[in-house]
Amino acid sequence: MLINLEGIDGCGKSTQTILLQKKLEELGENTVVLKEPTNEPHGQKLWDVLHGKRKATNEEILEFFILDRKQHVDEKIQPALDNGTVVLMDRYYYSSMAYQVAGGLDVEYIRNKHDFAPNPDIVLIFDLPVSTALERVRGHSEADEFEKEEHLKKVREAYLNLESDPLVRIVDSVRTPEEIFEEVWKLVSEVRNE
Ligand code: TYD
Repeated sequence: MLINLEGIDGCGKSTQTILLQKKLEELGENTVVLKEPTNEPHGQKLWDVLHGKRKATNEEILEFFILDRKQHVDEKIQPALDNGTVVLMDRYYYSSMAYQVAGGLDVEYIRNKHDFAPNPDIVLIFDLPVSTALERVRGHSEADEFEKEEHLKKVREAYLNLESDPLVRIVDSVRTPEEIFEEVWKLVSEVRNE
């Protein structure tokens, strides 16, 4: 089983990933949490771009994510699925279908470039207003705050546009972690029992 956890920065997906892993392990599942971008060379280049140390066009950024993801699928994701491990993806190709769409690329174009990637069984998108998310991750300078806010609004919109995708569940994340997890577990259980 492959579970993809998504959302804008500060949405609380890391907390939910930990809670979900704990619950699955209690039930006797083998689990692994995998995160993208990775720490492999393509992922490293991406971190440089994301931290402004390296310039790249949106198309180049997408290509870096895809190269990083191909290696991740080959080396970690597919082998884990093959031995029956439940894979929890803290960001996967649905991140590209939100962030790179916010950057100006077409969503179906991005989806079609991911033929190589095993599809998730469920994609949980943790949704909340950008201002609330930013309050949770404060500590940036006010100057880049505005730019970040405008960008994240586009990312949130791109995520919400995925609502009709049959794999996607939008989870209202303006609640306590416990309340959110209750819904997460209900949604994951439905898919587990199929
Ligand atoms: P994030 O998980 O937020 O890292 P951290 O918790 O260390 O801050 O991911 C880093 C950034 O990468 C995030 O802003 C989203 C972006 N990203 C994309 O733009 N496209 C992608 O396909 C992925 C996986 C991430």
